[in-house]
Amino acid sequence: MKRKVYMDHSATTPLASEVLEAMEPYLKETFGNPNSIHAWGREARKAVSEARNKIAELINGEAREIIITGGGSEADNLAIKGSAFALQDKGRHIITSAIEHHAVLDTCDWLQKMGFEVTVLPVDSNGIVDLEELKRSIRNDTILVTIMYANNEVGTIQPVKEIINIAKERGVRVHLDGVQAVGHIPVDVKELNVDLMTLSAHKMYGPKGVGALYVKKGTKLVPLVHGGGQEYNLRSGTENTAGIVGFGAASELAKRRLENGEHLKEAQLRDKLLSGIMKKIPHAHITGHPTQRLPFHASVCFDFIEGESLLLRLDAEGIGASSGSACTSGSLEASHVLLAMGISHERAHGSLRLTLGKDTTEEDIDYILEILPKVVEDLRALSPLGKDMNKR
Ligand SMILES: Cc1ncc(COP(=O)(O)O)c(C=O)c1O
Repeated sequence: MKRKVYMDHSATTPLASEVLEAMEPYLKETFGNPNSIHAWGREARKAVSEARNKIAELINGEAREIIITGGGSEADNLAIKGSAFALQDKGRHIITSAIEHHAVLDTCDWLQKMGFEVTVLPVDSNGIVDLEELKRSIRNDTILVTIMYANNEVGTIQPVKEIINIAKERGVRVHLDGVQAVGHIPVDVKELNVDLMTLSAHKMYGPKGVGALYVKKGTKLVPLVHGGGQEYNLRSGTENTAGIVGFGAASELAKRRLENGEHLKEAQLRDKLLSGIMKKIPHAHITGHPTQRLPFHASVCFDFIEGESLLLRLDAEGIGASSGSACTSGSLEASHVLLAMGISHERAHGSLRLTLGKDTTEEDIDYILEILPKVVEDLRALSPLGKDMNKR
């Protein structure tokens, strides 16, 4: 049987078995509505409350500061729209960066149509936000800086402490999109002194469709979903008990893994993968920051190749990878992240993202290093782009 190697953990992770086990009772016998007064309700309410504690512990926040949402995209929307509407009397200017996820960029675009002004900060060739430009961009009417903690396409980790300090000096609120970072690198909201941070369960071995917004005590937001007043009046709707319990179990797992240094072991395998690729494949370029990057994240561009055909060929060999983010792969548009980093359209089309997980083994890496060079060579031989290579 052909080997199957899933290398797309930035898109989503499998549900950990201990997470599924924790969730199961809440999909079956413990089905009560957490808002009900009776025993069924009390049991569900207790489970939600325990899970909230575990999520908070992972980022060193308080349980009261965790607002459960239906995923990372919703938490980003709540942070940005919720801040914009809460602070519009103070100002209508928002700052973000060119390499954000669409959940942030499209939300900012929408707010622009609603009369807000948005400044999009450039990044350098490693994907690091221009801090001098950030300082210059802050105005008296700036109400929010929203920047991602770590990038999903190239894995670059932003200098978030500096970003927060710059904004705080001018009294500006900061939101971090922590979807790719939380659970994979140590994150401490108290030490960062961040106001808002987005989390998503399915990026850290929890269930899909559950996320959270960390909301620092005293941070005013306008809710997007009105109704029964759940989640401290910030997100109404009967709680997704099993999903929240799963998120709690995933947070516990992530905390344990970080304490055991398992993310560092992942980084060693990732380094082996990247150095193997660079050794075996000519005209390959690592994208993203060489050191300030997520431990499980490898991304490269191959010249004279078409990313989509590469994905299909790898898929046929049992390797699940992606080119750019999950939502942009499948379309022929070059990634906005790579373009913002100054990578040419031509090179950006040959991008490949390989993201490791907790169960990735050395043998998996060896298999990729055996298959990938052959696939790249074959595709270059077949493609008109490959003919250009021979001319150089
Ligand atoms: C950086 C980043 N932000 C937000 C999201 C959206 O999260 P969700 O899939 O939970 O809506 C993703 C998902 O890929 C992401 O990578």
